[in-house]
Amino acid sequence: MLSNEEIQAAIALKKIARDERIKSYIQQSPDLYPLLLRAAKRFVTGEKRQDGLAKAKQLMAKGYLVSLEHIGENTRSREDCLRAKEEFMVLIKEAGSSLLTSTISLDLSHIGLSLDPELAYQQLIQLVIEAKAYNLTIMISMEESTKTSQILDIYKRSVEHHSNIGITLQAHLNRTIQDINEIIQHHQKGRYSGKIRLVKGAYQEPTDIAISRSEKLNEKYLSLVERLVEAGCSISIATHDEAIIQEVKHRGYLNLEYVEVEMLYGIRPDLLRDLKDQQYKTRIYLTYGREWYLYVCHRLAEYPPNIYQAISDMVIPTRTDQIYY
Ligand code: FDA
Repeated sequence: MLSNEEIQAAIALKKIARDERIKSYIQQSPDLYPLLLRAAKRFVTGEKRQDGLAKAKQLMAKGYLVSLEHIGENTRSREDCLRAKEEFMVLIKEAGSSLLTSTISLDLSHIGLSLDPELAYQQLIQLVIEAKAYNLTIMISMEESTKTSQILDIYKRSVEHHSNIGITLQAHLNRTIQDINEIIQHHQKGRYSGKIRLVKGAYQEPTDIAISRSEKLNEKYLSLVERLVEAGCSISIATHDEAIIQEVKHRGYLNLEYVEVEMLYGIRPDLLRDLKDQQYKTRIYLTYGREWYLYVCHRLAEYPPNIYQAISDMVIPTRTDQIYY
């Protein structure tokens, strides 16, 4: 558990993460951007698609599954939304034709949600159809609680017609148990079959709608995993929490063919490697692109000792080959 000081630092970092002015200042600064990029490279494969694809190839050769994301969210103009969708199209073609991944991840606000939910839906459908041609799944990430209903509405609308769509759900939100029950009902009627990725939740949320990091949250996470496993839903247990991983292993869930463990690139590679060596299904979530600011702030906030690491990476650039999978 984090100390009080670490909790305060995490809250501050999550606030900084949401500050668009700081983000654009950093992105436009010829001094700050490259400096912070050095720290970001511990969590992001690089700025270019080729960086993501090359890392995917390396990790798949070692026996991991991967998810790939062109990183970004809250795109503000229609042109940028179309451009983001085009990048995903090329990613699907390149990754799909060289069998480099089975999953493409995205934030709906990257392709239009913040501008026009219908645009996000239409763009998602184009990506899903293209992905299907390569046997790929599109996994939708979950964003702040202000967007949860919109994201779930788009998911439900799409998954009725396309089976290659998954959704991420956040255990920390109070509403998630109802969302899961509803999705399970649709699964049982054969209307949905997509994968559910269960995470704790990265965003700072009001206390009346979410619970913060605690034993209570860990118990809730486990009970949601249990509900999904018992319903036979394909599930990605997306956490770096060793106690949770040990518990799901102990319960035998990891032996099930429809259960996998997924972790973010650069975080607890030792733990994931052990699981892979024990022949469990393991997946690494890889990101690339220039929009890493929010993502990296969250990674630092989740584990404040990473701040020390980031400072040293800025001075002595990260050697990513030292992230040993
Ligand atoms: P928790 O934060 O309680 O950490 C447990 C332990 O894990 C820590 O004590 C530490 O040992 C280790 N750890 C965790 N984070 C670390 C870090 N950054 N560096 C080093 N060690 C760390 N969130 C969201 O809101 N929407 C989404 O769509 C997604 N998508 C997503 C996909 C995948 C594949 C993963 C693994 C995670 C996400 N997340 C997410 C992020 C998720 O909500 C959560 O914020 C992080 O996974 C951290 O939470 P943990 O479950 O690891 O537990």
